Amino acid sequence: MAQKRVAIFVSGSGTNMENIARRVQAGELDCELALVVCDNPNAFALKRAAKLGLETFLIDSKQFKSKGEFDARIDQELNRKSVDFVLLAGFMRIFGSEFVRKWRWRVLNIHPALLPKYPGAHAIKDAFRAKEKETGVTIHFVDEGVDTGPIILQRAVPIHLDDTLELLEARVHAVEYELYPEAIRLFLAGKLSVTSNQVVIRR
Ligand code: GAR
Repeated sequence: MAQKRVAIFVSGSGTNMENIARRVQAGELDCELALVVCDNPNAFALKRAAKLGLETFLIDSKQFKSKGEFDARIDQELNRKSVDFVLLAGFMRIFGSEFVRKWRWRVLNIHPALLPKYPGAHAIKDAFRAKEKETGVTIHFVDEGVDTGPIILQRAVPIHLDDTLELLEARVHAVEYELYPEAIRLFLAGKLSVTSNQVVIRR
């Protein structure tokens, strides 16, 4: 069977993108990396992608009159590159309902918290400031909401009394680099389905 083709979406540093790309290049994930999509011209992820020899598609939301047009341009590029599924890896933009419908259960996202707790753009800091004893990492399918889609995998990360935000961030990221590949492997093996908005994993 032909390998599935993936696009990774980034907005910032791109460490998750690099981790996934390296695993694809090492043959640890059985898919082809077709494209890196980035919405931020200053993202360090672009430098990482160039170093890894990956094709990038830079898109500026300000050039579009509406979210619908922005999404449609991305959809066009994904089709042009025959992309089968999408991995959001620190992509800080929300898709409109038409895009979500079109790509239903073919877009995965990583979020640095134990959803439904701490959705949004500052999840690690929010959990740290709230003096939680633990936070974590969630991998989920993308639906129409913000960080609300069906959950594939979650892993807890302890918050220690003497932690700094930097230490906690490093601990969360280390878990991200293991959990996202695990979820991608399940997806690629066809072991994930969604029933009544819940993920069922066939092990
Ligand atoms: C990651 O921690 C990811 O979970 C988070 O952005 C970071 C990106 O880091 N995503 C979200 O907060 C989504 N709401 P990276 O660019 O180094 O991979």
